[in-house]
Amino acid sequence: MRPSFKKALQRAAINARKLRPTVLYKEDILSLLTASDGKEMEALFNEADEVRAFWVGDEVHLRALLEFSNYCIRDCLYCGLRASNVALKRYRMAPEKIVELARKIKSMDFNTIVLQSGEDFAYDRDTVSWIIREIKKMGLAITLSLGEREFEDYRAWKEAGAHRYLLKLETSDTVLHARLRPGRTFEDRFQCLRWLKELGYQTGSGNMVGLPGQSLETIANDIALMAELRVDMAGIGPFIPNPETPLGDCPQGDIWMTLKAVAVARLAMPWAHLPATTATGTIHPQGREMALQRGANVVMPDVTPVENRKEYRIYPNKMCLFDEADHCRTCIEGKIRALGRRVARGYGHALAFQDQQTEYANGGR
Ligand code: 5AD
Ligand code: SF4
Repeated sequence: MRPSFKKALQRAAINARKLRPTVLYKEDILSLLTASDGKEMEALFNEADEVRAFWVGDEVHLRALLEFSNYCIRDCLYCGLRASNVALKRYRMAPEKIVELARKIKSMDFNTIVLQSGEDFAYDRDTVSWIIREIKKMGLAITLSLGEREFEDYRAWKEAGAHRYLLKLETSDTVLHARLRPGRTFEDRFQCLRWLKELGYQTGSGNMVGLPGQSLETIANDIALMAELRVDMAGIGPFIPNPETPLGDCPQGDIWMTLKAVAVARLAMPWAHLPATTATGTIHPQGREMALQRGANVVMPDVTPVENRKEYRIYPNKMCLFDEADHCRTCIEGKIRALGRRVARGYGHALAFQDQQTEYANGGR
C-alpha cells in the first residue's frame, strides 16, 4: 500500500467516526479514488462498509421509482430522453393515473415513492401540487425528481408536502457540463440545489462516472462539492452509452471506478443515503449487491408499468426491464437478505444534520 494512500485512508476513517465530520481535503478524496492494487481497494471497500454500518446500520431503504413521463425539453448529450431523440415513443401519465399507481405502490408495502420524469413542463406547478397532496394522504414519503424548475415551483411542492428532491449535479466540471448539457450551466444546476436546501427539502444529488472527457479530479471535485453542500443523498452511477444519442460510441463507465466512487462518497459523506444505482446493476450482474457492500444503503426498485418502463430509455439494456413491480420487490428483498442485511421498515428520512444544513443554506457559497 502506498504511504500517501494509507495516510489519506487513515484520515478519512478518523473523520468519518466523528460526530461532525468535516469536509475531506480534495487531495485525500483524489488519493482514495486512485486505489489501485488489490490491497488498496480492499482496504478502501472495507472501511466504507464499516462506516456505512456505523452511520446508517444494516438496513437497506427501498424507494419505489415511478417514471411518469419520458418527455424532456432538454437535450443532454448522454441521455436517451433528450428532446432530439425521435426514436423514443413518448408517454405522459395522467395525474389521476399517477395517484392510482401510488396507491398500488403503497399496497406493496413501500414507504417512499420517487416521482421522476424528464423536464416536462406539461406538469405545471398546480398539477404537481395536486398529485403530491393526493399521495401524501396515503402516508407515503414523497421524493420528486423533475429536474430544474423555478424557485416558486419548488416552494409550492414543498408546501404541498414533498419531503425530498433529487437533482444530480451530473458533473461539476463547468466546461464539460456546458458541453454535455446544451443551454444549461453547472451554476444553474447548483443554484437549484441551494434552493432545495434552503426550502428544507432532504436533498439528493449525484454524478456519473466515466463521462467522456471526465477526469479523476472531476469525480473528486463532484464528491467534495456534494459533501460541502451536505447533501442527504448521493446517487453515483456509471455512464452507459446510448446508441440513440451523440455519445453512443463512447466507452462505458468502469464498474470498479464506480464502486470506488461510492466507497469514497461514503467516507466523505458518512451521513448520506447512498443508492446502489440501477445503472451500476446494468453494467454488472452483481453491481447493486457490490455497491451495497461498499458503502451503499438504498435501492430504488423501478415500479413503472413495464410498457412505459421500456420507453424510459435513458440508456439501453436497463436491468429488470421485464419484471413487474411486485416480482421486483420480492426479488430485491431476497438479494438484500442474502447479503445479511434487512429491508428498512421506516421512512428512512435524512439523518439529523439540520443545524449544519441550515447554516450552509444561509451563509453558503
Ligand atoms: N448513462 C447513465 N446514466 C445516465 N443518466 C442520463 N443518461 C445516462 C447515461 N447515458 C442519468 C443522469 C440523470 C438521470 C436521469 O439518469 O444522471 O440525472
Ligand atoms: Fe432530460 Fe434529464 Fe435526460 Fe437531460 S438527463 S435529457 S434533463 S431527462
